[in-house]
Amino acid sequence: MTENKTVPPYSQLARVYDLMGADDHSIMMTEYCLRIFKRFHIKPVKVLDLCCGTGTALKIFSDWGCTVSGLDRSAAMLGIAAKKLKGRRIKLYQKSLPKFRLFEKRGRKEVRFDLVTCFYDSLNYLTTQRDLKTAFRSVYEHLESGGWFIFDMYTEASLRILWGGQIYAGALDDIAWIWRNNFQKRRKTAECETTCFVKTGEKWDRFDELHVERAYENEKIITMLKAVGFVVKGFYKCHTFRKPGKKTFRVCGVAQKP
Ligand SMILES: C[S@@+](CC[C@H](N)C(=O)[O-])C[C@H]1O[C@@H](n2cnc3c(N)ncnc32)[C@H](O)[C@@H]1O
Repeated sequence: MTENKTVPPYSQLARVYDLMGADDHSIMMTEYCLRIFKRFHIKPVKVLDLCCGTGTALKIFSDWGCTVSGLDRSAAMLGIAAKKLKGRRIKLYQKSLPKFRLFEKRGRKEVRFDLVTCFYDSLNYLTTQRDLKTAFRSVYEHLESGGWFIFDMYTEASLRILWGGQIYAGALDDIAWIWRNNFQKRRKTAECETTCFVKTGEKWDRFDELHVERAYENEKIITMLKAVGFVVKGFYKCHTFRKPGKKTFRVCGVAQKP
């Protein structure tokens, strides 16, 4: 019998992330961003994608002519991103939220961007209010005046309904996965125990990861954004310009540094 150790989130999932179609969300978010840009007359030039994962959004922003940088704590995810972005001048930082500081190549000046994005419930991985607020502050400090922050997050409804006590499974020719989820109402956190099987040659490898996310009330998120200095320009049911409702699974925030 083989012993399966749980490894850090995304350290193994990275190699199957795009194959499972998980990066489709980035594509949808960049399309939604185009509509947000139009609505608020945003013309991004210098973009930072936080929790950039395998770099799909970075590639799209770069195709649009933006100067882009990505940040993620997972070396494995950044490794896939680096391959995808080969030949492009894109800076990738291996750093962790909540507090991050990025400096110009030489010197002590912090790099500033005119757009910071963070897609696919990456911010839900911050499981304390303090960490979420610190992350918002770090974003604020890395924006030019007038710069924008666009992000999406899971809501309590999604963690409770989509993750609470649910099991999901899928299989392709060379990959199979099982997600076993649970939700703790009091802490508003959900755990997703991920087991993946990946075929290499004739052999199947197994790995296990534990992913923990937390939900925040919409009002709380807005209050924290305002507390660090942002003007909240929009807070929507994601992919629309409608107000989120009680059953909304994903919200999108659009905030501007004055
Ligand atoms: C669901 S994936 C999203 C990746 C990408 N944004 C996308 O849309 O495909 C979450 C990403 O957040 C990163 N992440 C989670 N917690 C983080 C933290 N505290 N600091 C930096 N990156 C983090 C993970 O390594 C992972 O790449």
